[in-house]
Amino acid sequence: MTTKSVLDSRPALAAEVEKVAEVAGYLWQKGWAERNGGNISVNITEHVDYQIRSMPAITAPIAIGSTLPHLKGCYFFCKGNNKRMRDLARRPMENGAIIRILDDCAHYEIVADNPVMPTSELPSHLAMHNHLIGRGSDYKAALHTHPIDLIAMSHTPKFLEKDVLSNLLWSMIPETKAFCPRGLGIIPYQLPGSQALAEATLRELDDYDVVMWEKHGVCAVGKDIFEAFDQVDVLSKSAQIYISARCMGYEPDGMSHEQMQEMTRAFNLPK
Ligand code: 13P
Ligand code: ZN
Repeated sequence: MTTKSVLDSRPALAAEVEKVAEVAGYLWQKGWAERNGGNISVNITEHVDYQIRSMPAITAPIAIGSTLPHLKGCYFFCKGNNKRMRDLARRPMENGAIIRILDDCAHYEIVADNPVMPTSELPSHLAMHNHLIGRGSDYKAALHTHPIDLIAMSHTPKFLEKDVLSNLLWSMIPETKAFCPRGLGIIPYQLPGSQALAEATLRELDDYDVVMWEKHGVCAVGKDIFEAFDQVDVLSKSAQIYISARCMGYEPDGMSHEQMQEMTRAFNLPK
């Protein structure tokens, strides 16, 4: 591993990577990141200067598995495949890498700091970034993580009907709708890392910022990695309130329809 880093003398780029490291630590502390569980990618193109653009790659071109036209010339910082969040937290550039999307929009190469192969969920991450850029969004971060409570709730068909879980989780505590206003989309089980999972994720992104991968985890997008994390965190808090009430032996009432409507109006939230 090299000791010189592309982050040296590039404070804005270093700050983005530090944010990823901070969130990686939270994921581990929360118990959402067993072994190598979860992954993060951030579009860092705006922080990439001419020198980085002219840097030679440290790997040969690698196929993405699809062609993503909006990613031409983009750069991403990604967690490495099989790397642990708890290690990403302490040593981000040894457990993640900066990749460059090539002009054919179908291949990428690793440019810094080390030849750490990106996450196995790269097809979903890059498809999401391509989709976000295509719709003119300023979202730069994508997070996939394994929150125990939310995954547990995805193991029963009654919570997998459209918006059943969103409405239930919103009704557990007023702030959940305020801070995760688009709710939780549901994606029926697909093989981890597959193109099918990436395509299913895209279909839900028009309506949701956070989606559940049934019996696997959640995927969230946001302007930065903090925003993506916060949305999963508030949903998980609601899930814990629901589960705690059930453990005490009762079905929680949830906020009433009128209380939810009042919140929606007061915070100017989508219906
Ligand atoms: P990676 O180690 O490839 O990021 O995989 C972790 C994971 O959660 C796959 O869904
Ligand atoms: Zn996973």
